[in-house]
Amino acid sequence: MAGSLIGGLIADGWNPSSIRVSDTDSRQLERLSQRFPIMTTNDNEAAVAGADVVVLAVKPQVMESVAQALAGSVSKQQPLVISIAAGIPESALRHWLGEKTAVVRSMPNTPAMVQSGATAMYANPYVSDEQRSVAESILRAVGIVIWIDDESMMDAATALSGSGPAYMFLFIEALQAAGRELGFSEETAYLLALQTAFGAVKMALESTEDAKLLRQRVTSPGGTTERAINTLQEGGFEELVSKALHAAAERSRELSKEYGSTR
Ligand SMILES: NC(=O)c1ccc[n+]([C@@H]2O[C@H](COP(=O)([O-])OP(=O)(O)OC[C@H]3O[C@@H](n4cnc5c(N)ncnc54)[C@H](OP(=O)(O)O)[C@@H]3O)[C@@H](O)[C@H]2O)c1
Repeated sequence: MAGSLIGGLIADGWNPSSIRVSDTDSRQLERLSQRFPIMTTNDNEAAVAGADVVVLAVKPQVMESVAQALAGSVSKQQPLVISIAAGIPESALRHWLGEKTAVVRSMPNTPAMVQSGATAMYANPYVSDEQRSVAESILRAVGIVIWIDDESMMDAATALSGSGPAYMFLFIEALQAAGRELGFSEETAYLLALQTAFGAVKMALESTEDAKLLRQRVTSPGGTTERAINTLQEGGFEELVSKALHAAAERSRELSKEYGSTR
């Protein structure tokens, strides 16, 4: 995710020499510095020294130790801290970094890798308007940004857009498998499923009409699409999607308790 953000920022015109990256994995740093003219280090404190903005992009499991080790520098410099870690509440970050730290908690998704991400962001009261727009411009380099006022909505964002790409892939897989059953080769079924998903999303993005209306437009009474849609709905498609999102949001709440515990 950090690599995608760096790529997006540079493509957006940010000066690579203003970006410093720290990682414990030297091969990862080597790969990054081969792609971008940025400064890399194995020392988190060196990366943070003098920074106006610190982006924390480690796994949730290691966030506590990474943040605690940066507490001294962060309390002294008071930078804006942006976390992209799933499940870590801003209160936990402040507990580890310093109680008055300006924290933007964000939940991007993997299409950020192709600059088509959807990121939900929450700013705590210590974040200034200027820092808010800096945070937004950083995450906007990899897709769209939605601000939420209530941090608990982060679990809903995790369920909808954070985990969402996997639901889309599953639907494409199911279309491909059914296409195979109807007689297409694996490759042709995949290509038709993929381009159909892409075309439908592009159409919806470019249209002023909502998805429901677009669907109704392509569903002629008594036609093939209607037969398929009825079959999906009779099988409880919408209820199943709703159940899946509720389950994901619940899991997100559980993980927040697990990773964000400040004991
Ligand atoms: N991937 C997604 O779809 C997605 C979506 C939304 C949010 N996120 C969040 O984004 C964060 C990063 O996810 P990711 O998939 O990009 O993980 P990742 O590929 O494992 O990247 C994290 C990097 O941090 C390094 N690291 C580990 N401990 C460190 C330390 N003490 N100091 C400095 N660097 C350290 C890791 O090195 P090692 O490999 O050596 O451990 C790794 O290179 C996670 O918190 C995740 O919840 C991810």
